[in-house]
Order: sequence, then C-alpha cells, then structure tokens
Amino acid sequence: MSTMTRTSPNIIITGTPGVGKTTHSETLAQRTGLHHLDINDVVKKHNIGESSNDPDDPNTKIVDEDRLLDCIENDLEDGGQIIDWHACDLFPPRLIDLVCVVRCENKVLYDRLKKRGYGEKKLQENMDCEIMEVLLQEAREAYDDEMVVELRSESTEEIDANVERIEQWIKNWKKDHGKEGKKEVQTQSEQDKKDEDDPMFLHG
Ligand SMILES: Nc1ncnc2c1ncn2[C@@H]1O[C@H](COP(=O)(O)OP(=O)(O)O)[C@@H](O)[C@H]1O
Ligand SMILES: [Mg+2]
Repeated sequence: MSTMTRTSPNIIITGTPGVGKTTHSETLAQRTGLHHLDINDVVKKHNIGESSNDPDDPNTKIVDEDRLLDCIENDLEDGGQIIDWHACDLFPPRLIDLVCVVRCENKVLYDRLKKRGYGEKKLQENMDCEIMEVLLQEAREAYDDEMVVELRSESTEEIDANVERIEQWIKNWKKDHGKEGKKEVQTQSEQDKKDEDDPMFLHG
C-alpha cells in the first residue's frame, strides 16, 4: 500500500483529437496554477514516439507507453498535473484524481479537423472515435465511475463553464485532502455526504 502524498490533484483531460483538450488544459492551468502536462511535448522532448508506417499518416507517432510513464511518474507523484492526451488508460489510477472526457458534436468536430488539414482517412477515423465514444469507454473501464466526467466543448461559453466547474472541484479536493496531504479513511456514509456536496457530480 502506498500512501498518497500529493496535496494538489492530478487531472486527465482526454478526448478525440480536436474536441478541445488543449484549450481546456491551458485555460485551467492559467486559472489554477496547476501544471499543463502536454503529453505531445513530453513525447517530443524525450523522443519516445516512433513514426507509424502508415503512408497516409506519417505524422502520427506510436508512443512507448512504459517509457512515457517513466518520464512523467515523478511529476504525477508530486501532483498538480493537468494531463492533456488523447488516451487515458495508461495512467495508473492511484495517481489520478479526476478524468475529464471532452466531447464535441459531430459537425463542429468535423469542421475543426478539416481546418487542421486532416486527410479524409484520418478525419473519418477521428469522427468514428468520437461517435463510438471510444475515450469515454476507455475512461470508464480504467477508472472508478465517480472519477469520470463528460464535458461538452462546442462553444467558448462551455469552456468557461467547464473550467469553473473543475476549479470548484479542485477547491473541494484540496479541502478534503487537508494540509497533511493524506487521504483520510472515510466511511461510506461520509463519502456519500461529500458526494452530495460536490458540484462536479451534481446534475450529471
Ligand atoms: N468549446 C469550444 N468553443 C470554440 N472553439 C473551440 C472549443 N473547443 C475547442 N475549440 C477550437 O477547436 C480547435 C481544437 O481545439 P484543441 O484544444 O486544440 O483540441 P485538442 O487539444 O483536443 O486537439 C481549436 O482551434 C480551438 O480553438
Ligand atoms: Mg491538443
């Protein structure tokens, strides 16, 4: 059994490419002082991505997940990380406090990816990924249900509302985890009471 030592939470911002992960992560980092851990940057910096052999898609990198974890594990142990990446189930649950799956309506997402210059095949793959709710499934399979929230990201108003909601969740997390940074053992009824107070999980 390892004891949690972080005094600031680790939050995953995940979703299909183009849904708004980086926009959310940057805004949240500015507002909270938490660190935006852009996994694309980590992959580049440590050179742990290999080009795929797909001639249609030479820019896509296949990432060695074990090496990636080695690179960021200390940061995650320290806490206060906003993890921005289009996958989530590689991050060990013991190091994760909240998983936000950013979602976007098909037509809006299509236009965003088109604007990015994605070719037809890559565009279709990513649209399928969003329609099939691949990241939501992945998050729900890897983490406790109450840690996973879905956030819509079609308008700038939604970004503000989502970020505010996460900010409030962070405040509550810090209150609950105290200055000594240890997770207190709670009875189920205490936990139920807390969940009722937690705005993250009100109104679905
Ligand atoms: N809620 C939103 N309202 C308006 N534009 C958005 C919203 N979310 C994302 N965008 C825009 O969509 C594009 C992709 O967003 P980005 O954050 O880079 O996505 P991701 O990191 O998930 O690939 C950017 O041009 C961004 O400004
Ligand atoms: Mg991004």
